Amino acid sequence: MTKKKITAIYPGSFDPVTNGHIDIIKRSIKIFSKVIPAILVNPEKKPLFTVEERLYLLKDACKDLEGVEPVFFDGLLVDAAKKYGATVVIRGIRAVSDYEYELQMALMNRSLYEELETLFLVPAQEYSFLSSRLVKDVYGAGGDIKNFVTPLVAEKLREKFNR
Ligand SMILES: Nc1ncnc2c1ncn2[C@@H]1O[C@H](COP(=O)(O)OP(=O)(O)O)[C@@H](O)[C@H]1O
Ligand SMILES: [Mg+2]
Repeated sequence: MTKKKITAIYPGSFDPVTNGHIDIIKRSIKIFSKVIPAILVNPEKKPLFTVEERLYLLKDACKDLEGVEPVFFDGLLVDAAKKYGATVVIRGIRAVSDYEYELQMALMNRSLYEELETLFLVPAQEYSFLSSRLVKDVYGAGGDIKNFVTPLVAEKLREKFNR
């Protein structure tokens, strides 16, 4: 595939980054010359990891992916897109249940910044049930999550939960 000389932004909480996020990032960088996974503050969520920890884990997960440059942005997605010169927003859709909220956000972002296109990507089926929430819940309840996250995320989870 010839890559588009377009920068795409992939916003999220990444609390923490999972193999589902990484799957979406890898698909995105096949299409676009630059992909910016961007940690944004979601006021509806109470994060387990600090912004610094999340960025550290996200950077580690992307270290071998050329053209992928994770950032933290304190503000609106549309302002992050402008700052980094992104004209496409990537979001992952796992199930129909993701769609309603994603549609609402895409339309809101478009009304704030007309030139910004939202692109929905679908992960490999094996990740279609995976979420940061589930990783934290399963780990917190004593489950094994090593197939769902990077070794560094697994290590940081161990520290957070004092295992
Ligand atoms: N397992 C997964 N497969 C595909 N997309 C995913 C997966 N987990 C999360 N995503 C997508 O990644 C993006 C960021 O998700 P998340 O970190 O939960 O932040 P947010 O707070 O914006 O939902 C969202 O578009 C979400 O749908
Ligand atoms: Mg989410």
